[in-house]
Parts: sequence; C-alpha cells; structure tokens
Amino acid sequence: MCGIVGIISTRPVSARLLEGLKRLEYRGYDSAGIAVFNGQGIKRCRAAGKIVNLQSALQESPIEGTCGIAHTRWATHGRPTRTNAHPHQTSQVAIVHNGIIENHKALREELIDQGHVFATQTDSEVIAHLIQHHLDKGLGETDAFQASIDKLEGAYAVAALIGTHSQTLYAARHGSPLVIGFGTDEMFVGSDAFALAPFTQKVLYLEEGDSAIVNIDNVTIKDKAGAPVTRDILTAKISAVMAEKGNYRHFMEKEIHEQPESLARTVAAYIDPDTHLPLLDDAGPLLQNADRLVAIACGTAFYAASVAKYWFEQYADIHVETDIASEFRYRHPALAKNGTALFISQSGETADTLAALRYCKRAGLGTIGIVNAPESSIARETNTNLHTLAGPEIGVASTKAFTAQLAVLALGAIGSAHLRKTISDDEAKAHIEALEHLPTLCKAALETEQQCASIAPTLAQASQTLFLGRGAYFPLALEGALKLKEVTYLHAEGYAAGELKHGPIALIEEGTPVVIIAPNDALIEKTISNVEEIAARGAHVIAITDKACASHFEGQARHTICLPDLPGLTGPIISAIPLQFLAYYTALKRGTNMDQPRNLAKSVTVE
Ligand code: G6P
Repeated sequence: MCGIVGIISTRPVSARLLEGLKRLEYRGYDSAGIAVFNGQGIKRCRAAGKIVNLQSALQESPIEGTCGIAHTRWATHGRPTRTNAHPHQTSQVAIVHNGIIENHKALREELIDQGHVFATQTDSEVIAHLIQHHLDKGLGETDAFQASIDKLEGAYAVAALIGTHSQTLYAARHGSPLVIGFGTDEMFVGSDAFALAPFTQKVLYLEEGDSAIVNIDNVTIKDKAGAPVTRDILTAKISAVMAEKGNYRHFMEKEIHEQPESLARTVAAYIDPDTHLPLLDDAGPLLQNADRLVAIACGTAFYAASVAKYWFEQYADIHVETDIASEFRYRHPALAKNGTALFISQSGETADTLAALRYCKRAGLGTIGIVNAPESSIARETNTNLHTLAGPEIGVASTKAFTAQLAVLALGAIGSAHLRKTISDDEAKAHIEALEHLPTLCKAALETEQQCASIAPTLAQASQTLFLGRGAYFPLALEGALKLKEVTYLHAEGYAAGELKHGPIALIEEGTPVVIIAPNDALIEKTISNVEEIAARGAHVIAITDKACASHFEGQARHTICLPDLPGLTGPIISAIPLQFLAYYTALKRGTNMDQPRNLAKSVTVE
C-alpha cells in the first residue's frame, strides 16, 4: 500500500504534493509526510494519522521548494507514528517507498556496522541509508541511486531526492506501480495517474524493473538490465474531479445509494440493444472455448467470484475454480491447458491478484479482467476486460463495486452459456430481461434502509453476529459478515446454512443475532428448516427474503426484510443491499469511521 507523489517544477510544489496525497489516501492513512529541496538542502514535515494532520503541521511550519516528494503510509514494518512516517532522510537523501523490502534486515545490519544510525523501525529507511552510503563512497547521485536499487529485494516503488541543491527526482519500480507525468515546465511522479490527474493527463507507466531520472523537462529511463529504454506516453482518461459526499454523511452511504445508476450503466454496456443478448466482445471466445475457468480475487471481490461459480457451473456447464489470490499464487495450482482465468478487482492494483494474473499468463491461460479502474495494472495486463462501470468508489469497504462485479459476472455467465449453447436464445433473453430490471429492483431494495437502521442497534450491542445462506447466497453470507467486521469492528461469521450443525450452531445462545439471506430459490425449504433450528435455540433471526417467501419466516424471524421478487440471477445482487445497510447503520451507531476503517486500505498494493 502507501501512496507516492513527486513534483519538479519552476513553481512551489508543497500545496500540490498535498493535493496529490489526498487523492492517494485510499492506499493508506496511518501517517503522511513531504520533503522538498528548499535551497539549503532537504526539509521535511511529517505527521501521524490522516493527511489533514500533515496539512495542519505544514500550516504551522511551512516548508517550500520547487522539487519535492510526498507519501501517505499504510504501516507494514513499524508502528504508524510520526517517527516512522516517510520521507526517510539522511544528510543528503530523502526517499518515499511503497512496497516491502524483504532483505531490509541484512542491509540494515551491514549499514549499522558501517556506522549508519537508523531512526525508525521501517524497512524503507534502509533505502535512504543505502543511497547515502554510496554517495559517501564517492559515487555520483545517479550511480548511488542505481547501485542502491540494485541491492533491494522485494517490492518497491521509490521516489528520491538526492544531493543538496538538486533539481532532479529519482524513481524506480519493481512490483509496485509508478507513473511519470508530463506537465509544462514541470514533471511528476505518482503511484497512479489518479494522483496526477489535477496536474496532467500525459503519463507514462514505468515497467517492472525500470528506473527513471526525472528532470524538469525530460525523463531518462533504464530497464532492469540497465539499458536505456523509451516507454509510451499515454493520455490518461481519468477525471481530476474528486468524488464528493454531496448531501450524504459518508461515502459508504452515498455509494450504497448510487447502485441503481451504477448497475444501469454496467448492465447497459454488455447487452446488445437490438438482440437483447449479452455482448462480451473479446471475452466471448475466452469464455466459450475454455475447458475450465478459474476466478481469482481478494476480499469482497473474492465473494463476487464465489457467487459467479454457482452461475457459470449451473448455466454454462463449465467447471469453475475460485481462489483467493494470495493462496493461488503460491500453491502451485493445477491449471487446465485450455483454461481461462478471471481476475476480479475494484482497484485493479491488488498486489496478490496482480501476481496471480502474471502467474496465469506465464502458464498460458487466457485472462479476463473484471476491474473498476480501467487504467490500472490488472486492466492493462489482462488479454481483455469486462470493466465494471461503478464509477470511483471511495469508501474503503466495497459496496457499489461489488454489485457491479456481480452484474458483469451474471452477464458473463449467461453470455457464456448462450455461446456454449447450454441455454437457448429464449432462456438467455429471459435472463437478460431480468438483469435489465436490476436498477428498478435496486431502487426497491434501497427502501429497506430505515428498517435496516432500526435493526442496527441490536447488532451494535451483540458480541457476534452470524450470517447464513445457501447456494449463491452462501458467498453473500460471507460478504455480509465481512462488511460488518470491516466497518464496525464487531465479530461476525458467515456460514453455509447447511453447515450449521457442524459447528456454528454451538455459538447460538439467547439473543444471538443471525442474519439469514433467503430469497426464493430451489433451496428455500431447507433454509427455512435451518431458521427453525436456530430460532428454537433463542437466536434473534433477521431474515432477508422476498415477497414470495416472507410468510415462511413468520413466527421465526424477529425481523423480515422483504425485497421485491427477484427473478433469474438478480437475487444475490439485490440481497447485498440490506447487508450493506446493516453494516453501515451498525457502524453509525457505534461511531466508527466506516469510510476509512482502522488498519484497512482501499487498495492493497503489498502482499
Ligand atoms: C481491500 C478492500 C476491499 C476489497 C479488497 C480487494 O481489502 O478494503 O473492499 O474488496 O481490498 O480489492 P480489489 O481492489 O482488488 O477489489
């Protein structure tokens, strides 16, 4: 995680470094800092906590210069204190780093033996000392930077100031993204093009192993073998406008309410308006001809993948394996020779998902990205993409991106079933028609808001909540529990309702809240039996169901959240909405920061 910005200009840079940092706060908000050349050398300012704290510190003790670097941190090594905040500095060097330096202990010991004194517990500080060490040995700035980068093992995006009166930024990447931006009489470095969007749309993405020397009017790049290279300069299509909360109290609340529009946009992009059949473009053949699919993701996106398994297997008759990216990449998976891999990611930058993608590419699989950030690393490295059109998602806990992922996967499953002829034209059209109703169904589901708000105090005072579902609603139960944990810091467990008797039923005592997700489907009778079992043991049952089944829960559930009837594949997508409201209102009741929960980050760019 962590976000990096650097600017070299003819004008002062501090305010703009801060502006860039605010756009990177989704990567971490444990501490922040900036360093600039101010004519006498490198001056820095740092603060623990969110970027507003750095802003206040800078107001009290301003620092200014025309060349600087900045950082927002998600702590990996060392607590999130001001001391451990980046930039890390020696007498002639300041660096900011995103990633993990795996050999930092060995390097630190060597440097300590040579007299270096470390100020922090971070892995990153070793980079500043290494560069200083090479300067002390007599190497010039460029050689000192390159010699130091060559010694690093692990993942890094680094930006550095070196020297005393320098007008140069040094940058390198390996495993963590870094973008160079081109302005008029100024140049930029950033973790992503979004950070640079207020300053320039002209960007160049450094490739793995690249290092760059950025001057005010040019950049010189070397590849991992040390050979000079040029990289394409692109026009980023990223809006400079920062998402605002509007009339909502929180981004999470706003983003939950945006789902009718985000679903409408996403669904419309993949349906042929004339034939009412799915439009999958280049992804079509990859889904049609594959012997097997593997769907890989992290967090909420993994639960979207898990729902998709039910859909692809049932309708397209294709075997789907799902895997958490951090497990997949290291477990030597047996892959189908003619397989296709799906990578689901809101940010498109999740380190483990990206590593899994590279693994699959090396293994020769076809790769499809289902990504919300169209210019992200995953979107750029897959063979083709079925983008989710949820728009920028700011709340750390995913809401509208999740339902957009589900919508794309539903269209992909029906599209693939149609291409593979496991469903007829008429069946495909009926499914598509149901999916076209998603925005309307979603609006109706948003009407459960006040009821969910009234249930939240029960969840807020419980020590644990259980979420249960069967079939495609089982991953929804996992997602409901994750959402509650993330934003309320309360314990929650998601379980397959059929597994109840194999353990979780022991957790139930008088008043334990159990959220059961059970709109009408082929398994509803079995789920109702489960509800009877838990109600008999004193559980406080909260049923999320639909009109067709609401009456079944009478006498068993303390609350029945009734959704409209949910045709075709719409059920798991629409059922997510009351789960999001339950988490949001429970967080509101507990006073937690649901937009930026403690210890979490929106984009997990380290493994
Ligand atoms: C973090 C976020 C989650 C997200 C997960 C995967 O944990 O807090 O909301 O689901 O990363 O992120 P991705 O960007 O790959 O969807």
